[in-house]
Amino acid sequence: NHDHIKYLISYVENEHTLSKEDLITLLNSEYTDEICKAADRVRKKFVGDVVHLRGLIEISNYCCRTCYYCGLRVYNKSIKRYRMNENEILQCAKATKDAGLKTVVLQGGEDKYFKIKDLCNIVEKIKDLDLSITLSIGELTTKEYADLKKAGADRYLLRIETTNRDLYKKFHPNMSFDNRVRCLMDLKELGYEVGTGCLIGLPGQTLDMLAEDILFFKEIDADMIGMGPFIPTPNTPLENKKGGNVDLVLKMIALTRLLLPDINMPATTALGVKAENGYLQGLRAGANVIMPNMGLNEYKKLYALYPGKTSDDGSKVVNDIENIKKLIISENRIIGHDKGDRKKIWKNP
Ligand code: 5AD
Repeated sequence: NHDHIKYLISYVENEHTLSKEDLITLLNSEYTDEICKAADRVRKKFVGDVVHLRGLIEISNYCCRTCYYCGLRVYNKSIKRYRMNENEILQCAKATKDAGLKTVVLQGGEDKYFKIKDLCNIVEKIKDLDLSITLSIGELTTKEYADLKKAGADRYLLRIETTNRDLYKKFHPNMSFDNRVRCLMDLKELGYEVGTGCLIGLPGQTLDMLAEDILFFKEIDADMIGMGPFIPTPNTPLENKKGGNVDLVLKMIALTRLLLPDINMPATTALGVKAENGYLQGLRAGANVIMPNMGLNEYKKLYALYPGKTSDDGSKVVNDIENIKKLIISENRIIGHDKGDRKKIWKNP
């Protein structure tokens, strides 16, 4: 068994492909360290030591959706809602540039108040600062994605959350898995760099499903993958469920790096919240991106996807820019100074 696992790890390190059965074997194994070390070597070989910083601006916590795990779901009446105005967003984008970052990520709940025309306007103004723009504002129409692309948006993040249709249906009432895939296909077609990803440790989620998630990322040739542990959130239907396991998250990150060697992959906030030294652990498991929160302090605590995101709920996660820069240096990695586009090196066979 030991020899078989060793063989699988060296195979995937060289070939960047693996069957679902073999993925499950590795996800089920106790060889997290060995898998992460292989992923770290592949990360170094394909994307180097640079860690790209993406300035995250959480523009609105209004959301019309009802995702069972998320604190921003429309039925959560216990949180105060906010949306940033254009001036505030531009001010944060400027601060992001001043901190030396080259990308802003505008993320928000599915807030129908924002008109696409207004968002296009904001995108155009941020482009004038010579920054790359990533959007993460959920499911839109093909035309809306096209308009935003034309306005200057470069990348888009839309996690599939889980590729298992039954699980997807269970945790996303009144949403359509097919429409979500349609969105990802549209975004690819329109020339966005596309990011997706999944939650790890959802109630009822199996290793089989997680292996399928990784194969899906490869199949759609995702440019970016964000993954983190499911964290139970008060005032949601899953508030009393068990959260995701850090060891499993690290194996998922590492295996994703091994199968998609040249993508950009963040050590996510959720991993930072859930694990001791979560960002470091992520960076050592194949991640090469961190997304410091560049929003306004008064809003950070209101963007309550899950608990522990800010220091005022007793969290030890350090996601301010100065601490993150120190962490990267202390790890003998290099802070990125260019836009950090995906450089496609590996051709999916
Ligand atoms: N735990 C972990 N991640 C969550 N997200 C939403 N709610 C939670 C939670 N309770 C993730 C989703 C979403 C991203 C912005 O945050 O995967 O795509």
